[in-house]
Amino acid sequence: MKSRILIIGACGQIGTELTMALRARFGADKVVASDIREGDAQFMREGHFELLDATDFEAVEDIIFRYKVDTVYLMAAMLSAIAERFPSKAWDLNMNSLFHILNIAKDGKVKKVFWPSSIAVFGGTTPSQNTPQTTVMEPSTVYGISKQTGERWCEYYYKKFGVDVRSIRYPGLISYTTEPGGGTTDYAVDIYHRALKHGQYRCFLKEGTVLPMMYMEDAIKATIGIMDAKAEDIKIRSSYNLAGVSYAPEDVAESIKKHIPDFKISYDIDFRQSIADTWPESIDDSEARKDWGWSHSFDLESITKIMLDNLRDRYS
Ligand code: SER
Repeated sequence: MKSRILIIGACGQIGTELTMALRARFGADKVVASDIREGDAQFMREGHFELLDATDFEAVEDIIFRYKVDTVYLMAAMLSAIAERFPSKAWDLNMNSLFHILNIAKDGKVKKVFWPSSIAVFGGTTPSQNTPQTTVMEPSTVYGISKQTGERWCEYYYKKFGVDVRSIRYPGLISYTTEPGGGTTDYAVDIYHRALKHGQYRCFLKEGTVLPMMYMEDAIKATIGIMDAKAEDIKIRSSYNLAGVSYAPEDVAESIKKHIPDFKISYDIDFRQSIADTWPESIDDSEARKDWGWSHSFDLESITKIMLDNLRDRYS
């Protein structure tokens, strides 16, 4: 039976936990992890893995054929901060990987596609409080432009060719299993590592920079939730707003101090501040809640406790 799931970018921050969740749910044989680099030993041991460059159309098609894949999660992407340094590489990876999968789906070779979008699709002219699903979108970063364009293509392939593609605009994601790489919201993960290791953190975003964030378990629940939903319930085929919590660096610092009273935060802002300044502070995700029953579970206090509890062993 043709029914395997392929995760492209399976060793990244989301991909790692998504792969583990899908293996647990469907059984390891049903899940094919792929990435341009290998994951850790346990990850490699526990299921199928293929080295894959997401921009290599033939290699992607070959894996889909060999493993009889019918569902693809395309998680490979270059994030906001790093994409500013490598614009054409970021455009190539973020766009062409999507085109390949949409075209393969258009040809009927896979049935369902998940592709992540981001709060980076919004820009400085977007209302920043409770940002609506449909609003002004003038992204000013390479990453944001690629995600916004990708959303347009997803909707186009759905409307024109009936491709069942589903998408979420992730906020900044917090996890302890795999670290993020090259994003503007990375501080919100680094801060826990530094708190445990050095008792202090120098933050590259300034005090008062409120951004939408989410604990990874919520993000995985949303990802699997939107893929589980009936096709007719997915009314938005560009990408859904998704919200968890919103906070600024000093809020994380305060929550850490409840566990590590001597923890100190200082500020040394860099170019990522100008990216954060164009992103919303909070997101209205009522469409996702209404259409496919999304709800989040983790607030900042619970995220901080989980992060510190799970990372403590690594640094003690
Ligand atoms: N967390 C991402 C970034 O900072 C946003 O999608 O780039």
